[in-house]
Amino acid sequence: MLQVKEVTVHYGKALAVDRVSLEVNEGEFVAVIGPNGAGKTTLFKTISSVKRPTSGEILFEERRINDLPPHEVAKLGIAHCPERRRLAYRMTVMENLELGAYLRKDKNAMEEDLKYVFDLFPVLKERKNQKAGTLSGGEQQMLAIGRAMMANPRLLMMDEPSVGLAPLMKERIFEAIKEIKKERNVTILISEQDASLVLPMSDRAYVMETGRIKMEGSGRELMDNDYVKITYLGL
Ligand SMILES: Nc1ncnc2c1ncn2[C@@H]1O[C@H](COP(=O)(O)OP(=O)(O)OP(=O)(O)O)[C@@H](O)[C@H]1O
Ligand SMILES: [Mg+2]
Repeated sequence: MLQVKEVTVHYGKALAVDRVSLEVNEGEFVAVIGPNGAGKTTLFKTISSVKRPTSGEILFEERRINDLPPHEVAKLGIAHCPERRRLAYRMTVMENLELGAYLRKDKNAMEEDLKYVFDLFPVLKERKNQKAGTLSGGEQQMLAIGRAMMANPRLLMMDEPSVGLAPLMKERIFEAIKEIKKERNVTILISEQDASLVLPMSDRAYVMETGRIKMEGSGRELMDNDYVKITYLGL
């Protein structure tokens, strides 16, 4: 479904992503794990066309997408749930969810998706008229995921959904992600620093360090790998 081929990305002269290749097959749950500054966010921004690669190419269902503007990429069915949430903080919960669906015309299905999001995160329903900026960090993350789901994406990209959250809230967010994986017909590409949360549920995963893919394998293979155990699982 998604093919990233030898993609290199710079900020000015600084190299952030270095000849990265990865792929996501339809229906898969694929994780990118790696420390601060590894280039995960830059990679995701490049896939959603917010950032241009210096070289390499990105294909979505065999079509080259890295020259398209971000809204065209979104229209193809790629939703990006960005790092640190990036909500419309002065707008209400409901308005944020509507924003997520702005490219859609299928009203009825939208209402079903809204119901789905409210079932997944009942607190969003309770707070639908509250300004997004006044939600707690965990609630904002729920809203960011809910907003991405409102686009009814084919490929959902989530950039570090647990960052900055307390352990209990991290677990709740991951329970919801598990539920989405199980119940929805959506392919998922997720980045996460907490490998112990994400590897057990990953079909495949990539280890990214200083802009490069260092390792790849099934979630199980990486959990059994000594380097991953020591570096990412603290075992
Ligand atoms: N807007 C920017 N301008 C210049 N350099 C940037 C910019 N954004 C990121 N970088 C640099 O690019 C490299 C990769 O950063 P990136 O944010 O992609 O990493 P990350 O893996 O997402 O890290 P984190 O886990 O902390 O979110 C880093 O060296 C970072 O300093
Ligand atoms: Mg990041």
